[in-house]
Amino acid sequence: CGIIAYLGPRQALEILLHGLQRMEYRGYDSAGIAVLSQLADAAGSGSEGAAAAASAAAPGTAHPVKVVKRAGKVARLAAAVEAAGIEGSLGIGHTRWSTHGPPNDSNSHPHCSAGCEVSVVHNGVLENYGSLKKMLQAKGYTFSSDTDTEVLAHLVFDTRKEHPALAPEEAVRKALTLVTGAFGVVFLFSDQPDLLVGARRGSPLILGVGEGEYLLASDASAIVEHTKHVVYLEEDTLVTVRRGGYSISHITETGADGKPLPHDPEVVELELSLEKIEKGGHPHFMIKEIMEQPEVLANAMRGRILDDGSIHLGGIKPLLPRIAKASRIIICACGTSLHAGMVAEYLIESMCRVPVEVEYASEFRYRTPIIKEDDVVIAISQSGETADTLAAVKLAKEAGALCLGFVNVVGSSIARQTDAGVYLHVGPEIGVASTKAFTGQVVVLSMFALALAAERGTLSKEELASRGLALRDSTKLIAGALANADKAYEMAKSFRFAHSFLYLGRGFNYPVALEGALKLKEISYIHAEGYAAAEMKHGPIALIDAFMPVVIMAPKTDPTYDKIKANMEEVAARDGCLIVVTDEGNDEFDSRAEHVLKVPESPEWIAPLVYSIPLQLLSYYIAAFRKCPIDQPRNLAKSVTVE
Ligand code: G6P
Repeated sequence: CGIIAYLGPRQALEILLHGLQRMEYRGYDSAGIAVLSQLADAAGSGSEGAAAAASAAAPGTAHPVKVVKRAGKVARLAAAVEAAGIEGSLGIGHTRWSTHGPPNDSNSHPHCSAGCEVSVVHNGVLENYGSLKKMLQAKGYTFSSDTDTEVLAHLVFDTRKEHPALAPEEAVRKALTLVTGAFGVVFLFSDQPDLLVGARRGSPLILGVGEGEYLLASDASAIVEHTKHVVYLEEDTLVTVRRGGYSISHITETGADGKPLPHDPEVVELELSLEKIEKGGHPHFMIKEIMEQPEVLANAMRGRILDDGSIHLGGIKPLLPRIAKASRIIICACGTSLHAGMVAEYLIESMCRVPVEVEYASEFRYRTPIIKEDDVVIAISQSGETADTLAAVKLAKEAGALCLGFVNVVGSSIARQTDAGVYLHVGPEIGVASTKAFTGQVVVLSMFALALAAERGTLSKEELASRGLALRDSTKLIAGALANADKAYEMAKSFRFAHSFLYLGRGFNYPVALEGALKLKEISYIHAEGYAAAEMKHGPIALIDAFMPVVIMAPKTDPTYDKIKANMEEVAARDGCLIVVTDEGNDEFDSRAEHVLKVPESPEWIAPLVYSIPLQLLSYYIAAFRKCPIDQPRNLAKSVTVE
């Protein structure tokens, strides 16, 4: 989901809609806005007069708040607001990924109290909304949606009614103390034409500090074209924004006088440019992000792999001696990031000889895991906001383990809550299906494994140097794999009507098979399964017939190459349709497989970076032939801030 809010001298509507479009990739089953029309605006004085009207308006005067919400894409909302003649320089907006209630107009945000006195947009999930709803219904409040969020609007309205002397921001604070669960929220009040109140707990919120204007957003991409100066709100804080300035305080922590403790925020500069969040001539973000991998992976390694092949990861360098003594490394992640974690298991165990466990963060957090103080827990996340991964970080820290974050989004929650970490530096990833973040994670984890091997002395100096340089040069191999995009395109044409795919790989390429299958199902809606190649005979082999494309990774450098060939024979013997991915110069399969995709030869441990490229391309082109909404596949969200 995405939140955007504006307060300043300009017309809010356009800024909100634009911000929502930029964030649509985060969640996109419905969208909505609420804009307060200052009475002066409503009378037609335009935006120029808005600030003056705001400061002149008598406190307590209710201004009209126009709310428009639509199920579907932001474009539907934009069409609907066009006719509504909305003016005003204060507003909130939201793009939703449903958790409670189906995506329809009434479940879209903002949610409002009965007379729109309080409007709210919310990311996250309120765990106790059921009991709060009952309590409010008993007091006579009626609900017009199935969402948990609507509770907040009535609750804050009720708090203001019961405590008329409370400032609106204090009413929000009081109401939030009754709530359990996660929230990033922004409130707008019809009687406060110069106020936005935001708060966060477990869900991100950023304050953009512009020239005479402020924005609140859950994602920097929504505000970067207006300002590069931002404050990343910390966990459990509340921000009060007025045209004249803002103040940040803790939601629940109070000083000796019972007053909320102020929080001194740091304004930092965004490392994001508009150019980086646009498509640069490509039809979709996904293909742009696939194609730019050689360049962004070089960025991820710049200054980190030196000319002598040595590795320098500034963020974790001082901790390496402690990490080297870890008796175990636990990796927690979700989705594609988990697959990168699985590659890391192969990398770290083979190079550093430390036991590694990889686990879905959602399982880890609830199974009372045994975490020891000498464990190192690694959280891998593109967004740095995935709720389950963040919860795993908290758990690890409580247990006293050292917790590292391998994250792409600078300043994100996981980046800030881990003890140390390494940013991927692959630039913003907008396409919902992760591509460059995956290879970026694998690159960063490879550098980590090499740095740890150096510290532990498990690889010789010569071996470390040659591996460091081989990793740095892997961008050339990736570029070589991308150069064969035409072949993937041609193949996609033949397979666009397939109903199901099987992806098989062994060793380092087993996680690549899982990732290849995930990519295909995410964006083309074709069922696909990834399997460890040898495991196929324990189940999936029953599915194989002439209509089942089976993608097998067969790098010659893999020590199990001969075994992979045997697995291939098992498929061929059942008339399965074989698609082999192998090294350039290897003609062994040219006449035996239906299709052969070739990539430059790479060392075994670098193969995941190279072999994942044709699989990304195949998924992309199949989805394109099927005319799927590639950057925003149905039901998915880029950043899953709910558990
Ligand atoms: C969502 C996205 C996936 C992503 C996963 C984990 O499901 O659609 O592409 O892999 O979340 O996200 P993270 O930001 O933690 O890597």
